[in-house]
Amino acid sequence: MKRIVVLVSGNGSNLQAMMEACKQGRLHATVAAVFSNRADAYGLARARDAGIPAHALDARDFAGREAFDAALADSIDAYAPDLVVLAGYMRILSAGFVRHYAGRMLNIHPSLLPKYPGLHTHRQALANGDADHGASVHFVTEELDGGPVILQAKVPVFDGDSEEDLQARVQVQEHQIYPLVAEWFVSGRLVMRDDAAWLDGERLPAVGHAAE
Ligand code: GAR
Repeated sequence: MKRIVVLVSGNGSNLQAMMEACKQGRLHATVAAVFSNRADAYGLARARDAGIPAHALDARDFAGREAFDAALADSIDAYAPDLVVLAGYMRILSAGFVRHYAGRMLNIHPSLLPKYPGLHTHRQALANGDADHGASVHFVTEELDGGPVILQAKVPVFDGDSEEDLQARVQVQEHQIYPLVAEWFVSGRLVMRDDAAWLDGERLPAVGHAAE
């Protein structure tokens, strides 16, 4: 069975979606451990409730970003993951950490990348009057939210939507696409090569896999 380590900073609803997909046999993998940079992340409680080892590292215990990430990588590697999944992990990653997991680390971002990397994506979509918004799953590279996109989910933006409305609508889609992409990866269908994502031997376009 392939092994996934998940990193969270908050609620962990995407972690929950991964764990459920494993349990239901839609994702042929096991969540081996969950890590957080915040001891109070609800995602850690979700993991423990499911009997999955859950650990927090406190940045104040380390000299800097490199030292923190080196310790985190050591702890993650003790679980020998095939795949590292960032699920609302809100800490900037050092270049060394990203390189260490190159081609085996995924992130989900709440926008239709390359639109709106960084924070406050729902607010920006509303402020710009966008008709569509969504989420993107991508391989993690050294460019923040800039790695090759694998799959996007689009949602409509309605008149009168609040940030919370939009976030909730996007998250419903996140919980569908993230376990699906993880399954593509653990089943060997998805790889990163030449700075691009490849699915079933085909190089994916900039918007990721496109299907109705
Ligand atoms: C998700 O919506 C994810 O797209 C976003 O954080 C949320 C975490 O929710 N990630 C980022 O903004 C990363 N740049 P969750 O903790 O309930 O899974």
